[in-house]
Amino acid sequence: MNVFLADEAETLAFAGRFFAERVRPGWVVYLHGQLGAGKTTFVRGCLRATGYQGIVKSPTYTLVEEYRLDNGLTLYHFDLYRLNDSSELEWMGIRDYFRPDSIAFIEWPERGAGLLPAPDAEVALKPQGQGRVIGLTEASSTTAD
Ligand SMILES: Nc1ncnc2c1ncn2[C@@H]1O[C@H](COP(=O)(O)OP(=O)(O)O)[C@@H](O)[C@H]1O
Ligand SMILES: [Mg+2]
Repeated sequence: MNVFLADEAETLAFAGRFFAERVRPGWVVYLHGQLGAGKTTFVRGCLRATGYQGIVKSPTYTLVEEYRLDNGLTLYHFDLYRLNDSSELEWMGIRDYFRPDSIAFIEWPERGAGLLPAPDAEVALKPQGQGRVIGLTEASSTTAD
């Protein structure tokens, strides 16, 4: 599915709908797109949909930011752009982040290839004119419900 998003507000709204209507506990969502494409904005839209109104920092240097949601789930936002070596993921205990009671969004997932679970959904953002085109793919095993 491809949708044109004219501005940041549309990205936030689209992400919020996606999060509320599609994302389930335990999901892993890969975010694709060049720097500035809107990946972090998309995660902010998801968090806003949960009622979180605080700052959403880009975890470029920390690799991951953690958000405790009101419903007891934990949302992890990864940005692996600065990952030098996949052993860094081993050191941070990467496997412990993917649980039935967590939801993970991962920017630059290809940098963690081999150490990340397969995605339940993939989001791709691409500049088009002043806006963005967003593509959404869900793994077939998770669309049966
Ligand atoms: N649909 C859109 N149209 C135009 N600009 C957008 C849109 N969505 C997000 N943006 C802007 O693009 C930039 C994206 O930044 P960010 O989300 O940090 O990108 P990334 O995480 O992919 O590097 C922000 O300045 C944001 O306001
Ligand atoms: Mg980002």
